[in-house]
Order: sequence, then structure tokens, then C-alpha cells
Amino acid sequence: MSDILLKIHDIKKSFGGVQALRGVNLEIRRGEIHCLAGENGCGKSTLIKIISGVYKADSGSFEINDKPYRHISTMESIDQGIQVIYQDFSVFPNLSVMENLSLNMELKSKRQIVNYRRMREIATEAVSKIGFKVDLDERVENLSVAERQLSAICRALLYDAKLIIMDEPTAALTKKEVKALFSVIKKLQSEGISILFVSHKLDEVFEISERYTIFRNGQNVSSGNTADLDDRTFAFYMTGREFAEESYTPVSLSETPVLSAHHLTLKGAYSDISFDVRGGEILGITGLLGSGRTELVQTLFGIYKPDSGQIEIKGKPVRIKKVSDAISKGIGYVPPDRLTEGLFLPQPISKNIVISKLDKLSMHWGILKRKSIKTEVDAWIHELSIAAQDREVPVQTLSGGNQQKVVLARWLANDLSLLILNGPTVGVDIGSKYDIHALLRELARRGLAIIVISDDLPEVIACTSRILVMRAGHIVREILSKETTVEELGEISTGVGQKETA
Ligand SMILES: Nc1ncnc2c1ncn2[C@@H]1O[C@H](COP(=O)(O)OP(=O)(O)O)[C@@H](O)[C@H]1O
Ligand SMILES: [Mg+2]
Repeated sequence: MSDILLKIHDIKKSFGGVQALRGVNLEIRRGEIHCLAGENGCGKSTLIKIISGVYKADSGSFEINDKPYRHISTMESIDQGIQVIYQDFSVFPNLSVMENLSLNMELKSKRQIVNYRRMREIATEAVSKIGFKVDLDERVENLSVAERQLSAICRALLYDAKLIIMDEPTAALTKKEVKALFSVIKKLQSEGISILFVSHKLDEVFEISERYTIFRNGQNVSSGNTADLDDRTFAFYMTGREFAEESYTPVSLSETPVLSAHHLTLKGAYSDISFDVRGGEILGITGLLGSGRTELVQTLFGIYKPDSGQIEIKGKPVRIKKVSDAISKGIGYVPPDRLTEGLFLPQPISKNIVISKLDKLSMHWGILKRKSIKTEVDAWIHELSIAAQDREVPVQTLSGGNQQKVVLARWLANDLSLLILNGPTVGVDIGSKYDIHALLRELARRGLAIIVISDDLPEVIACTSRILVMRAGHIVREILSKETTVEELGEISTGVGQKETA
């Protein structure tokens, strides 16, 4: 038995006119965690479906456990120990955990009568393998995404899996759940199981995998030991672009600040905060969690009411008591977790973009002017280069970066003067991250005032012109982005080795 579990040679596959795979190779060793990375649409899922027997390759071949294949059936793939955890986990939501785990096994055994005691035994064994604590009688639809995923992994183990393929398993998980998943993956590895982990997130690839393969546009671009990769190389392989970013330099600033804060205080969060932001600039606000930065910008957006202090918009004192006040004053806020807070995922792009305009438009016209909505939506799709077939595709089918652009478009459709972004590129692939930065620069050049909150320090430096650093509820330093470094910002944020100058 060789130590190569799976070897793929020159696989090609097209769908109509789209060549999804242009001759790819991949090699997975026994017991290794291998990361398959690449931007959305580069062919990762297509390759997985070929290995698992869902699709037939147009040409090429592969070997599993030294046995050569041109095509494989789904049954044979399972018999060879290949299990795929798909993005939707393929679980039956209206059945219990127990039924989900054991039903296929029972059906496969071709018994006439379903034996519930036997099913319970199978299910109990499955969850104990990875120490997954769950009520076996709970219906799967009541489980969290992470729990459904663990159920799917347990089910894979029942088939004596040798290779578990996880297709973007972290897409819908919280950081904590990702950590838990990683420890399950390590446990599987310690039992000799190989993992093919599909992801386009750099930090995950570095943390979990020993070896990697990167696809771009249906082709291999690189493969090797993860330890030999660094951020920039990874980004280059993924996108084929070099990313050298310089801090943003405003072309012109509005005479009057778009927003000024005077001595704002919110007890328990921040105190005596004063600053200006002008049209044409991108102001960064950074600081550790608990520094008060999020509460501060949420105050500007009417989510919190300050205990004291004053806000002026374009030179005039205003009261922002609720979110609708902020919106009517031309302030937009994009939260970090766009997936849960920002978007209506099953709804089309068009609805998501015009949603906050619907009231206005319908009040104005009595009925919705469909045509004007279409024109407006198409203009934004074009303007922000949102990669989608058309305006009616559901937002959940878009990549993270494109979803983020939809959120932006929604705000921009509202005649903004200040756009606040909290963690604008959390969970977004590298190419889209740089696209979003470029977009922000362009918007600022057109006169918008922008505030970016982020704890991603390289990002803060790269996409802003000026930075406020907060610590324990105070602004401790104001600094020009082009005159600072990641190290310095880190020190100011933590207060290590710093003399106060604010
Ligand atoms: N069933 C299909 N029919 C038509 N085109 C498809 C199908 N599956 C994938 N594609 C296309 O093939 C390309 C690769 O898709 P996919 O393998 O899903 O990429 P990834 O998983 O890397 O995001 C994309 O351009 C996609 O639109
Ligand atoms: Mg995919």
C-alpha cells in the first residue's frame, strides 16, 4: 500500500461553454490534512464531485488506494472510503439526529423493518467517535449550523471513511465553531483519516493544513508545504494579481466636516470623544476589543444614545436618537457580519439593494415603479462590478466579496454623505478584499466621508488616510496612515511601550 491515498491526473470537465477544470492534478497522502484553495468559481467543488461520483470527468483519470479510475460511481467512491461534507451538509432537516446518522446504514443493510434499537446504537457510536454532545432525538432542523455539520461528519465516520472532504466547511461558522471544527479535524487525522479541506481563507489554510494545492481558473497554480507559503504568495497564487497597497491620500477634503463629534461620552463604553471626518477622507478607527470603537460608531448611527456630548452634521448640531434619524441624515452603517445583519440572503440582489428605498419609492408613486428600480439596480451592479448573472439571483449564491458589494450598493443608493464600515472585509476572499479597498478609495475620491473600523491593522493602514487609535474608551492617538506601521499601531492599541501623546 503506497502512502498516496488519492492521485488525480489531468482531469478536465466542462459544462456547456464553461470549462470548469482545464486539466488538474492533486495528490493526497494518507493521514494528511490537505488544503484545496482558490477563489470562487475556480473548480474546487467540481473536482470534488468527480471524485465522489456525482459528475463524470471529460478526460483524465485518478487513483484511489492505487486503484485506477476513469469514472467512479457514488457507491464505489463510498466503498473506497471517500466521504464528502457538502456545503449544505445534505442532512434531512425534519428527521432526528439519530435517524440522520443511521438511516442510510439501515437501508443499506436491506432489512425489511427499521430496527430503532439498532439505529440508536449506531448513532451513539457515531457521535462518541468525535466526542460530539447532542440529543439524538432532536430534529436536525433545530440544530445550529455547526451541529448539523458535526452530524454530517459523524455520519461520514460510520462509513469507515479514509478521506473526508470538506467543501468550505467554515463558510457559515462563528470563530468559536471554527476552532471546535479544527479540533475535530485533528482528531480525525490522529486516527489516520486524510482530510481535504476546501477553503479560500488564508488564515484557515495556515492553521489547519500541512500541504496545499491552489487552483486558479480551473488550473493548478501551486502545490506544496503550507509552511513554505506566506500571505503575499498565497494571494498572488489565488488571484494572479500582485497586491501592493499604499495608504489612501485624499485628493480634496470638504471644507466643513461631514460629521463632528464633541466630547461624546457613553458610560461604560467611551468618554470625551471628539473628532471630525471630512468628505473625501477615509478615517480609520482601531483599538482592541473593548476599546469602545464599535459603541462609538454605533452611536453615530443611532444604535446607542450618548450620555453627553454633541454631534454636528455639516456644521449643524443634530440629535440622532434612533437609526432612522441617522439614515435620514445620510449616514450609512455596514456591520461586520453582513450574513446575519446586513442581507436578506434568499432574496435577489435587486430586492437587497432597493430595500431601504422601497418605502420612499412606494410613497412617492403609490405603486412601485418597477422600471426605475431595475435601472437603478443594474447601474449599481455595473458600477461596483458585482459578479452575478443578473439582478434576480439570490444573494446567498454570491461570493463573500460580492455580497459585501451588495450591502454597499444598498447604502449608496440612499444618497449618503458618511459611510461607516465595521470590519469591511471580514470573511471575504483576498481578491475581493482588495477590490473593496479600491472601491472605498473611489467613493472617497467622489467626496464621500468614510469611517472604517477594523482590528485588521494592515487593512486599516492600507485603506485609510488617517487613523484614530482607541484604548479603554479614549482616543489615545491620531496618526496619518502613511506615517505608521502595523507594529506601531499594535503598540499604541495595547499601550505596550507607549508614552501618551493624545
Ligand atoms: N452544474 C453546473 N452547470 C454549469 N456550470 C457549472 C456547474 N457547476 C459548476 N459550474 C461552473 O464551473 C465553474 C467552477 O465551479 P465550482 O467547481 O463550483 O467552483 P468553486 O467550487 O471553486 O467555487 C464555475 O464557473 C461554475 O459556474
Ligand atoms: Mg465550491
